[in-house]
This record gives sequence, C-alpha cells and structure tokens, in this order.
Amino acid sequence: MELGQFARHRRLRSTEAMRRLVRETELTPAHLVYPLFVEAGLHGRSPIASMPRQDRLGLDAVAEEAKHLAKLGIGGVMLFGLPESKDEIGSGAWAENGVVQEAARRIKDAAPELVVIGDVCLCEYTTHGHCGPLGRGGTVDNDAALPLLARTAVSLAAAGCDVVAPSDMMDGRVLAIRRALDEAGFTATPILSYAAKFASGFYGPFREAADSAPAFGDRRGYQMDPANARMALSEVVADLEQGADMVMVKPALPYLDVIRAVREMTKVPVAAYNVSGEYSMLMAAIERGWLDADRVIDEALIGIRRAGADIIITYHAREWAARR
Ligand code: PBG
Repeated sequence: MELGQFARHRRLRSTEAMRRLVRETELTPAHLVYPLFVEAGLHGRSPIASMPRQDRLGLDAVAEEAKHLAKLGIGGVMLFGLPESKDEIGSGAWAENGVVQEAARRIKDAAPELVVIGDVCLCEYTTHGHCGPLGRGGTVDNDAALPLLARTAVSLAAAGCDVVAPSDMMDGRVLAIRRALDEAGFTATPILSYAAKFASGFYGPFREAADSAPAFGDRRGYQMDPANARMALSEVVADLEQGADMVMVKPALPYLDVIRAVREMTKVPVAAYNVSGEYSMLMAAIERGWLDADRVIDEALIGIRRAGADIIITYHAREWAARR
C-alpha cells in the first residue's frame, strides 16, 4: 500500500547519516578509468589547451603518473598515443616500439594493480585522420581495416595491456580481434568494445589532444547517428555475438537513455565514456565560477552510474579521486 498523502519523504533526508544509509548509487575510484595521452618525443608533461588541467605525457612521465593513480585507487587507465610519424594505413598503431606499447610496458611495471586498457584505433596514426585505410571514393574501407585493427590489438596485448578496446566502429572488428588474440595466445585478454559510439561533436577537444581530427569529411559514415537508440542495441548485440566481454556507450551524458537500455539488455559489464567535450564544458563553467566543481562533477558521474554504467571512463577521475 502506498503512503499517499501521508508520505513524508523528508524523514529520510534529515541528516547526512540518514542520507548515506538510504543512498542507492555508489561511486568509488575503482569504478573510474582515466585516459592518458602519451606523446612520442615529449619530455615531462605538456598542457592540453582545450582540456583545462589535462596534460599530454612524455614516456618519462608515465611511470610516476601510474603510481599516483594507483595510490588514489583508480581502477584503470585508457591509453592513447601521439606517434613520431604517421602514414596512410596507420602502421604506428601496431609498432612493437610504438609509443602506447612502450607506455603500457612502463605502466605495468610501475603500477601492476592498474588495469591498462589499450584503445584500438588507427585515427591517431593515419595521415588523413580517419579510423581505417581509405578505399574508393575516400571512404574508410571496412574490411581492409579489420586485419590492421587485429594486428594492433595483438601488439597492445603483447606489450602488456590487460584489456583492448576497439573504438573504430568498423563492422566485424570484434570477431577479427578475438580470433587474432586467440591465435597469438592471448585467450585471456578481454575485449571492451566501443559498441555504441555516436558521431559526436563532443569529441572536439580530444581530437586536439590526440591530434586525430579527420583531414577531410567526418566520421558519420562509421560512427552512429545520435538520433538512434534502437540501433545502439543492435550494435551491442553484434559485438556480444562476436565475443565482446564488455560494451561501451559513448559519449555518456547526452546518451543516458542508451546506457540504461544497454544495461537492461545485457548482463555483461557496461562502460560509459564521459568524453572530452563533456569534461571541457563543465571545466569552462567551473573556471568562470559559474558552477561549483565538487557538486557538479559528483552529480555528473553519479548520474552516469545511476543510468547503469559499471565503469566510467572520465578525465575527472584523477582530481575527483584526489579530493574525496
Ligand atoms: C578514436 C577515439 C576518439 C575518442 C576516443 N577514441 C575520437 C573520435 O572518434 O573522433 C574520443 C574521446 C573523447 O572525446 O574524449 N577513434
């Protein structure tokens, strides 16, 4: 029976102790993954203009950073690379001594308890900035991309990445990667697929951070239309059938309904990527004094958890964990 007009919801909000007792959603550093941009040839750190308080790291800075993040209890890191040079097919992505491969080795050495996730994509390594090699008419050739992505995933696993996370949105990449990992003996390496990745304006600051903006056109030919939620579920089904161990929704805040729908549809862990533009938008308002950092960052991250995400990939991770 409902309490109806006699309900007094405020009884359970009267003190912080009471509020804590009935709190439904929890957020801890263990749920968070912090993205790292590692730049070849850089020494120390270099600030990213479009992302206040975020830096690119040189290889000489990653070990110390990893130890710091591990001490904060952060669950893991997601690695992105800025290579020395680029080519048409993105061969820097699978170079044995590539910048991400080297970073992964150093991080696993310095802080073995951090889960190291290697982002599998070619856009940071191609001269044209698209996520696979170009075929006829200048569009990305889906099937030509698959072996290159598979090779990249194997190379990342070999360098010590605990998880590989394909973000390219080519059809069939999860199966290609699973087969290649298994053949190379990495049967225990899980795949976190960016299953529902939308073609989003919120990636703007990242493309400056990772130097991965497409030289022409956009990614709407392979990333999802922001209007489509049912198709996001279809993408998730396809990736699970191909062997994905975890699935991601990206971006997070404008797509909370998609996170919820994916959560309800599958039993596997769901990750949400609170992307660069979501971060910079809040930070810009915080820097102007228009929003209170502690409150809005908590609220944004709790909202993503409440929608159903188990794991949140977020640029807030480091500072949020440090001040809690
Ligand atoms: C690579 C990739 C992108 C992001 C993660 N992996 C950029 C893109 O697809 O253009 C975006 C992350 C962010 O904005 O924080 N394909």
